[in-house]
Parts: sequence; C-alpha cells; structure tokens
Amino acid sequence: MTTAPGHEPRVRVAVLGSTGSIGRQTLDVLARNPRFEVVGLAAGRNVERFGDQIRAVGPAVAIVAEDARRDGLGTIPDGTRVQVGDEALDELAARTDLDLLIVGTGGMVSLRPVIAALRAGTPVATANKETLVAGGHLVMPIARAQAAARSAADPADPLGSPLAWIRPIDSEHSAIWQCLAGERAGSIARLILTASGGPFLDLPAEELANVTIAQALRHPTWAMGDKITIDSATLANKGLEVIEAHWLYDVGYDMIDVVIHPQSVVHSAVRFVDGSVKAQLGTPDMRLPIQYAITYPDRQASPAAAPDLAAIGRLDFLPPDEGRFPALRIARSAGRSGPWASAALIAADDVAVSRFLAGDITFADIPRLLESAIGRFGSRSGPPPGLDDLVAVDADIRAAYARGAIA
Ligand SMILES: NC(=O)c1ccc[n+]([C@@H]2O[C@H](COP(=O)([O-])OP(=O)(O)OC[C@H]3O[C@@H](n4cnc5c(N)ncnc54)[C@H](OP(=O)(O)O)[C@@H]3O)[C@@H](O)[C@H]2O)c1
Repeated sequence: MTTAPGHEPRVRVAVLGSTGSIGRQTLDVLARNPRFEVVGLAAGRNVERFGDQIRAVGPAVAIVAEDARRDGLGTIPDGTRVQVGDEALDELAARTDLDLLIVGTGGMVSLRPVIAALRAGTPVATANKETLVAGGHLVMPIARAQAAARSAADPADPLGSPLAWIRPIDSEHSAIWQCLAGERAGSIARLILTASGGPFLDLPAEELANVTIAQALRHPTWAMGDKITIDSATLANKGLEVIEAHWLYDVGYDMIDVVIHPQSVVHSAVRFVDGSVKAQLGTPDMRLPIQYAITYPDRQASPAAAPDLAAIGRLDFLPPDEGRFPALRIARSAGRSGPWASAALIAADDVAVSRFLAGDITFADIPRLLESAIGRFGSRSGPPPGLDDLVAVDADIRAAYARGAIA
C-alpha cells in the first residue's frame, strides 16, 4: 500500500485476464475507485483490446501470452514494461509491492501465479474456478497458513480468515462468503448453490444432442465468456462450483446442495444447524462480487443495480435433473474421488467445450467425454498431484483425445 501525503492509502493491484469478461468488469470497478492503483495487467490473444487497456490504465507491467502478438499492442506508454509468457505472470504475482492479485483468466494458467502471490504474502481475489478445482489441495493450505499467522498476531486482523486470502468472485461463492460473515464454521449445516439451469432447462433429453452452438451460448440470465456459458448449459459449471465450495469452505461433499433457481436472484445460501437459512440476493451483475472481493472487508456504493423484489414477484426453486444433465453428477463424483479425478475433469472439460465450440462433437457428447477421461486418467492412488503432475494430466488427456483414445 502507498500513501501520498494527505491522501487515503492506495491499494496496488494486478489483473490477470484483463481482456476477458471478468477482466473488463474488474477494470470498470477499479476505474470507479480512485484508491486502487493498477500496477500490472495480463492478457492472452486479444492484443488490440489489451493495447487500449494499457493506454487507458498505464500499468507498470503488461504481460502478453505470446511474443508474436506483442506488435499488435500498438503504442505503449513510457512507464509500461511489456513482458511475455507464464514466467512473467509468476514474477508479477510475487512482487512484494502488490496488495491484491485479481484473477480473471480461464483454465489453469493462473495456478502458479496464485501460489506465488500467496507465498509472497499477497491476497488473491479469484473468479477462476479451475485453479481451485484442480489445485485446491495446493492453494488452500497456503491461504490457511497465512490467515493463521495473521490471526495469531492480532485476532481482529481482517486477514485472519483464509477467505480474505483467497477471495471468491464467482457469484455463488461470493454469496456464501457474505452469508458466512460473523458465523462460526461449526454452525454450518449445508451450503446451497443455486443454478439458473441454463438455456436447456426445459428441453427433453432426446433433443439435447441436436442443440446448436448458438443456442448453447445463449445464457438466460448472465453474460459471460464462452467456456463458462457452455459449462452452465451442461451444468458442469455447477459441478465445478461444488468442488470449489468444498475447498473454499472446508466442508464435505455431503453438505453441499445444488438447487435450480431460474431467476438468478438468490446467488446462493447457507443453512445453519438451527434450521435458519441465510441467502444473498442481487441482480446478475458480476461487478458486485468483484467489488466485494477487492474492497473487503468494506462495502461501498457499486454500479450494480439492487434487485426490486416486488417487481421480481416470485422466486422458483427446483431440484436439478441429473438424468438430463449428467455433467453435474460426473463432476461431483470426481470431486469426491479426489484431486487426480478433479484435475482430469478440468482438462477433459476444457477439451470437450473447445471441441463442441469447434463443431466437432455434439452437446450430448460433452458428459461422455468427461466420464471417459476421468475413468482413464483420474483414478490414480498415492500422493495428490503436484504442479508438474497437473500439467502432465492436462497434456495426457489432450493427447489421448487427439489419438481417439477417449471420446
Ligand atoms: N464471466 C463470468 O461472468 C464469470 C463468472 C464466474 C466465474 N467466472 C470464471 O472466471 C474465469 C474467467 O472467465 P471469463 O468468462 O472472464 O473468461 P474469458 O472472457 O474467456 O476471459 C479469459 C481471460 O484470460 C485471458 N488469458 C487467456 N490465456 C492467457 C494467458 N496465457 N495469460 C494471460 N491471460 C490469458 C484472456 O485473454 P484474451 O481474451 O486476450 O485471449 C482473457 O482476458 C473462468 O474460470 C470462469 O469460470 C467467470
């Protein structure tokens, strides 16, 4: 944190994946909060948009995924150093002058940076679920150790909770985090994750094989990146969120329920041992959970509109249909099986969604591919996968798919 004389301390942040759906909304939230200073940005292939962001924000460091794309950035301000590749992400995350790392990348690219930031004593706000699903066993022990050290030194330190170190941006996990404020871990009876049900909520099973890419990308309530939108349509996303919740809140799989809630107003809920249920409600606008994660423990006015309950009128809840949407069951079962199966799930889902988006497989093939890859690569015994093992599982599954060994 830096303080100019007579001013509030500035919070120095870096945003990984700034050109994506979460990244752009994060920059919008940061631009409305002058106490945040963006010291680093990172993006993948959309160098045109990234160049515009660099000129607007003027970070000290800007990282592109590939050297070949660097020229597409256009004119770079004098104060910005452009770097390339994964090692630069680790370096940025490990900077000792960083107050918060914000992660809006998809896939596994941010797992090493998240670990580097936590080890360097920098909290992380993350929308990315793959990092926790495949690497929760690597990430959470560091977050818990950092929190324990703070709490031992000062029981009132807001950084004395693991969730202050790994702050969820995913709206469901932000909702649970908000419901748990002021509650004791032993008071939780169940976590209740809500799901919109996606665009095919009412479609008969036999028609699911024929849905088009455009139909699957038409989410009824949220505007998001393509990968998570397809995951929402298959309900694989909700399965990933069950595993994410297991790691974030340290609760068993038997204590995590999923309920379909088509209006997407209740973002998730917690049932306590006395039977009381607390829920967090909001409009479907990711800028609210993004802002909560970056201003924590403070709340302040946000650009997200508050829900008008009288105008909404009714809220519906129904059980998920795991017969029509088997990806939820497959993902939950991978979570129960442990980190090898979860790692296989993440890699297989990345392959399956990109193959579907390329028109190579049907919507109904996605869960089949997940089950086949997890069956083949996710049942290892022995110690849980380390960072290199996670990379290897990913490569093995991609290679197996390419030679037709999983389908
Ligand atoms: N979107 C939502 O509302 C939402 C809600 C909850 C959770 N999430 C989770 O948040 C994560 C991001 O989702 P999204 O929808 O924002 O995805 P997205 O729109 O596809 O954005 C992904 C971002 O990652 C960047 N990226 C890709 N490879 C990179 C690399 N090697 N180095 C640095 N940056 C790289 C992309 O850059 P380019 O675009 O330049 O290639 C882009 O900025 C996912 O894990 C998703 O499940 C998203």
